[in-house]
This record gives sequence, C-alpha cells and structure tokens, in this order.
Amino acid sequence: MHCIKKITDDIFWVGVNDRRLAMFEGVYSVPRGVSYNSYLVKDEKTVLFDTVDKSSLLRFIENLEEALGGRKLDYLVTQHIEPDHSASMRELIYRYPEMEIVCNNKSLALIKQFNDFDADSRAYVVKEGDVLNTGKRSFTFIMAPMVHWPEVMVSYETTGKILFSADAFGCFGALNGALFADEVDFNRDYMDEARRYYTNIVGKYGGQVKALLDKTSGVQIDMALPLHGFVWRKNFRDILSKYLLWSCYEPEENGVMIAYASVYGNTENAAEILSCKLREKNIKTVMFDVSVTAPSDIVSEAFKWSHFVFASTTYNAGIFVTMETLLHDFAAHNIQNRTIALIENGSWAPVSGNLMREALSKCKNLNILEKTVSIKSGVKAKQLNDIDAMADALAESLQVQNAGASVKKPDESAVDPLAMFKIPYGLFVLTAKDDRDNGCIINTALQITAVPIRISVTVSKANHTRDMIMKTGTFNISVLTESAPFSVIERFGFASGKDTDKFAGCAYNDRTANGLRYIPDNTNCVISAKVIESYDYETHTIFTADVTEARALSDEPSLTYDYYFRHVKPKPQKVGEKKKGYVCRVCAYFYEGEELPADFICPLCKHGADDFDKTG
Ligand code: FEO
Repeated sequence: MHCIKKITDDIFWVGVNDRRLAMFEGVYSVPRGVSYNSYLVKDEKTVLFDTVDKSSLLRFIENLEEALGGRKLDYLVTQHIEPDHSASMRELIYRYPEMEIVCNNKSLALIKQFNDFDADSRAYVVKEGDVLNTGKRSFTFIMAPMVHWPEVMVSYETTGKILFSADAFGCFGALNGALFADEVDFNRDYMDEARRYYTNIVGKYGGQVKALLDKTSGVQIDMALPLHGFVWRKNFRDILSKYLLWSCYEPEENGVMIAYASVYGNTENAAEILSCKLREKNIKTVMFDVSVTAPSDIVSEAFKWSHFVFASTTYNAGIFVTMETLLHDFAAHNIQNRTIALIENGSWAPVSGNLMREALSKCKNLNILEKTVSIKSGVKAKQLNDIDAMADALAESLQVQNAGASVKKPDESAVDPLAMFKIPYGLFVLTAKDDRDNGCIINTALQITAVPIRISVTVSKANHTRDMIMKTGTFNISVLTESAPFSVIERFGFASGKDTDKFAGCAYNDRTANGLRYIPDNTNCVISAKVIESYDYETHTIFTADVTEARALSDEPSLTYDYYFRHVKPKPQKVGEKKKGYVCRVCAYFYEGEELPADFICPLCKHGADDFDKTG
C-alpha cells in the first residue's frame, strides 16, 4: 500500500524509509535508518525529482502511481546519480516511455555508465541557469559539483521559493511518520545525525559546499527539500547556520575532543587525567576510545569541537591501528583550523607522537602543540606535570584565564541597562489570529530590507500573540500615533490574551487581506507580514517576515517610546503617597499591592521584579 505525504497542494513526497540498511554506502552505520526522498510535482506537466534505492523500488512505485493519480510522468529530474537516488530510474523508463530525463552533461555520462538503456534519446540536457517551465511553476537549475558527486545540481522553484537541494541539508535517520523538520525537535534529536551525514558525505568538499551556499544566498528559500531526511519549511536558519560553519571548517563549540587508542588502559588513563584537569578549568571535553567508536562518528564530532587531543600507544613501531585509521580519515575529510595536542605511549620505544604529527601534517591550518606528552607504559609523577602543562597550554589556547577560572564573561558592571533605553523605539499593536483574534503591545519593529521588502518584530515569549504567530506564521502591525490614548496601551499591553478577549467592546472590526484585525484609530499605518524565520533569544522571539500588504492610514506622527513616557503614560505613584506598591524603575509602571511576586514581569516594558522599587 502506498504511503505518501503532501508538502503543498501540488508537491508530494513519494520516497521511502529504510531501517534495514546496516551501513550507508557500506561504511557509515545508520542505526536509526535513512530515508530516500523523491518528490513529485503535479503541475500542468508532472515532474519527479530523483528516485530511490533499488531495495525500495516496489513501495516507491506504489507511492508514485498513487501520487500521479493516473497521469503520466513527463519529466524525471536527476539531480544526483548516486544509485540510492537513481537506481529506480530504469523501472520508470518502462512505465513511462515518453518521460524525459532532465540532466546535465555530467549526469548524462554517469547515467550511461550505470545503465544500459538508451539515455541520449530521452535526455533533456540543462546547464547552469537553465529554466524548466511546467505551467504554474518554473525550475532554475544550479550546478553544485562535489556536493556530493561531480554531476550534482539543485533546482530552485521560483514561484514557491522552494529549493530541491539534492544532498545538501540532508540527514541520516528514517522519518518515522514526520516529514518536516519542525515536526520533531531537530536541534535536540537530529542535529548530530545531520552533522554526521554532512561530514561523512561532503566534509571533504567544504569549498564546494560554500560555493553552493554563495550561489543560493541571493534567493529567498521558503522550503528546502533534500534527498535524505526532513523537509525544511521553518527555521531553515538552524541548518543553514551549521552549513556555513561546517563548510568553512569552523568549530561550533569551544572545547576539547579527546580520542585515544589504548591496549591495556594506560594511554586511556593519561587521557582521563587530562580530561579531568581540563574540566577543572571549566573546559568542555568529550572522549572517544577509537577502538570502540567508529572513525566516521569521531570525524563528525571533530567538526563540532575547536581542540583535539590524540593519545595513542605505539604498536609495531607505528601508530596503533585504529588511531592510524582515524587520522587517515581526518586528512581525507580535510579537517582544518584546529589546535591539537598529542600523547604517546610505548613500553620500549614510544614513537607514535611523531608519527601522529606526521599523519596530521596532511591537514591544513592545524596548530599542533610543540610538546608531546610521552609515557613509558604508565603515567608517573613526571608525566603528571607534563599533562598539567598540556592542560594549561590548551586552556590558554581556549582563552581560559587561570586554572579554575571560567571562560571570560562580559563585565556586568560595565553594562547600564538604562543606557539601552536611549535607543529610540516606537510603540506598535501586534495582532495575530488562530481560533480567535489577539494583540499585544511591542516596541521593536523595523524594516530590514527594501528589496524584497521585509521587516522584523521582537516579541516577549510571555505574550500569547507570540505563540499564535509561531503557530500561524502571519501577523499585522498597527503603528500607534501620538494621539493614542493610554487606554489603547492598557487594552493591549496590560492583560494576557490567554484569558482576555482584547478586542471585547471595540467599536471597529477592520481586517487586512490576510484576515487579521488591525487598529484603525490612533494609528498611521498597518503592515501585514508572513513569517520567514523565527529566532529564539531566551526571553524573546524575533520574527523576520515578508511584507504582504502595507497601508498608510493617516499623516499623524508615530508614537515613540520617549513621547509615550513624557505625554501619554500617567505619572507614576510617588513615594510617600497613600497607595502601596512597586514602581518599575525602567518604565514607571505601577503595581499596587503589598508584595510583588518574584516572577512578576512588567506588562509594559517586560522587565522583571528586580527592576521594581517599593513605594508608599
Ligand atoms: Fe544519498 Fe550522495 O547521496
């Protein structure tokens, strides 16, 4: 029986999941399975993007036929000829004899190498920048050589701003019923698998990945559809930001990855002692026994960390065999821009240090600490001092001040929060809608680009409107004017939309084309927007968004935060007056009551209880 997923009204996932494959490409374990993604676009023409591994042919055909719904297949776009994406092509030729194969010159050559059918007669050869129009949609082809094979290309669909990204932005792991990355906790549960996929597949080709990122940086990507793993329709920045680091061989975290090869536990002991000393200096460490953990897993971790320590016993007058394999893999994956320390062991002729140094010389831009810790059989008092010195050298390199000190933090006494309020702000009513209308007051909204026209808004996570926007992806901003009465701020800023209908009793019910309400009075414009991405900043969420509608409503000057405090907001309760309560030091909001709850958040400026002074 078919098992397909709808991506848009006319795009379907017709791929398959494989949980029986033990080793991807015969070398990378996939204990959580893998998906082979194939996408069908049903426009005036039907277009299939890539196929699946031959092991999953039958389910794939069932899926494709169901999604086609009796239509014929007009085009097969072959973005990548690696057999896990192209092996089912032959079957399609028998089933859809009129189907054209959209490929480039390099992929056509590979199709002919892997197959015996007549590929030339059905080839629709494209090159960089060529466009395939299929009716409502049009696909521009962008060459992406060596991401992961030389023939790879990606396809950008202009109308929906969709990138069919071939191997880029993919991930190990079967989809388990989900399809979109936002349906799972990707950062927690899948980012390690995405890194492992990236590093092992294209880690060597950072320059080529960067070239693809540069080529696509000028276009808006609302959705990315890779050949393995989840479809990105939200928070694409999460994976893109990792690709920007990985492709430049920049670490994600400061810390030390220790990989050791030990026969009787003494080299391991040295590695453990070093790790403890680093931890005492508040330096993060991770440790791997290279005889236990696969080199591909360690290489993947290496893309994450800034510093490495390799510790190996000497074996047959060489590096211990599993460490030798690992270091070979490091060079093969082009790992660079790291600081490294070495520990060697040997009961009669310790030489693994120099040999590891030599093996690593094939990597670019490595800073290998001069002093190797050398052990004869087991760690003795003298080597403890050497390990101490190594920990100090690593700490210094990590910019840790002294033994026992934390990584340097900004001097908090140098930051006056009131200084931040000198930055000019406006006041806006931010509105959204899911099962009902809601709105809140915000002070941060700004245009970020003119072409395309985009804005950003910053909203406290305490606001229910923020939750609605996370869910629906649309919002309106009504820009308040100097004529706005305090009651508008009270209505939208002093209650929670979770338990209050903020529009109750409003005399107006004006809406923009997106169906959301806006405030027609005491405002000078309304802007409707569709969210591109959201960014999580602890207490607040920043939304970037495309402007979908913008209308001027009056010529009145906009209400600034400063004008509001001087002319609109009622004067604060003065100390000594009868009412007892707490006044916000930042915005002068008055809380009446004997005790201010410790978790109280100012409804106006969103500062916490620490910023309130007792009055009365
Ligand atoms: Fe499954 Fe290079 O791809």
